[in-house]
Amino acid sequence: MSDESDATGGRPARVQTLLAHGGLDPHGYHGFVNPPVVHASTVLYPDVETTRTRAQRYTYGRSGTPTTDALCDLVSALEGAEKTVLAPTGLAACTVAIAAMVKAGDRILVVDNVYNPTRKFCDGFLTRFGVETVYFDPTDLQTFRTLLEQPTAVVFFEAPGSVTFEMCDVPAIIALAKAAGAVTMMDNSWATPLFFRPLEHGCDLSIHAATKYLAGHSDLLLGTVAGNGEVIAQVRKTWDEWGENAAPDDVYMTLRGMRTLDVRMERHQRNARIVAEWLAADSRVSRVLYPALPGAPGHNLWKRDFDGASSLFAITFKGRPDADVVTFVDSLRLFGIGYSWGGFESLATLQPAHAMRVTMDWPQDEAVVRLHVGLDDPADLIEDLDQAMAHLG
Ligand SMILES: Cc1ncc(COP(=O)(O)O)c(C=O)c1O
Repeated sequence: MSDESDATGGRPARVQTLLAHGGLDPHGYHGFVNPPVVHASTVLYPDVETTRTRAQRYTYGRSGTPTTDALCDLVSALEGAEKTVLAPTGLAACTVAIAAMVKAGDRILVVDNVYNPTRKFCDGFLTRFGVETVYFDPTDLQTFRTLLEQPTAVVFFEAPGSVTFEMCDVPAIIALAKAAGAVTMMDNSWATPLFFRPLEHGCDLSIHAATKYLAGHSDLLLGTVAGNGEVIAQVRKTWDEWGENAAPDDVYMTLRGMRTLDVRMERHQRNARIVAEWLAADSRVSRVLYPALPGAPGHNLWKRDFDGASSLFAITFKGRPDADVVTFVDSLRLFGIGYSWGGFESLATLQPAHAMRVTMDWPQDEAVVRLHVGLDDPADLIEDLDQAMAHLG
């Protein structure tokens, strides 16, 4: 993040200070450090006239509470955004953002390594409502340029993709899309706002599955969409029409989790680097798909554009029978077998990479195991991987 930001009541703040202060208003709440967890539908008005003018800060539980305002303020400050909208899940944040910016007859471009449920929304819901989705290869800027020759309402992308970790040239994607008049949106869950801020690069919306690193403890689902001006106003309008509210306890828990985001990300990053380097040196592993690793696919783009890396990456095994790779994953003791990521715990999943794309081939004989490196001691994680890999023969 640009070191100086202005989100603590006009005082410049650095990221760690923002994380410690953002969204707080202790003297608004009798001196209590944290905001209250407001469980609310009804809000009372002093008189009929005020119900007509709506001249009071809160009007109905769905439209915002002191709890949601606190989290929105913090996320907006970190992302350099005017406003943030909170959704009940990361997926809901992606879908409400896309839906807000399209109408029947539109065509959108979506990166081919997109989170699979976002793809399902595009292929299912959007298709039914007359919006066409065309997928683009994140590594092929020339074809992307050609695709933009046809009218394009939205360009939606992630960097890196969260299964096979291809990086796209984010600044170039944004510049080309903007020149073509498309609204740009990035699912920024992998990097967190600590390591990448899409709006600084001209992207219209930065989206998070706050479920992951922002909340950080694998105990809730939440999504955020941050942006400026007309675009975020349009997202907020669709969000309001859909009634896509996040629940107060989840909002509060996310805010609580974010106070330690910087500390956790530093440790996640360090642990992931140690584990990834060990894996890269092991001949049983064919590739380590972690853009932060020198020599890994997308490393140069990551190094140029990002301030750090989270701890989600993949390894591949080439030419191994499926049963061997299954045994490897089943034999892990510290890595749980589970989807999701961003919590304190380490996870592993076997991913069907070849079935999840239309523009990019994936070798049928290259199995992808995605790892999330948690806050465990990396030496223990390496021992665990080593003992499980012994089963590969
Ligand atoms: C990249 C990415 N975006 C969005 C989501 C959706 O988040 P949620 O599970 O909160 O709906 C996920 C979940 O795994 C994800 O990996």
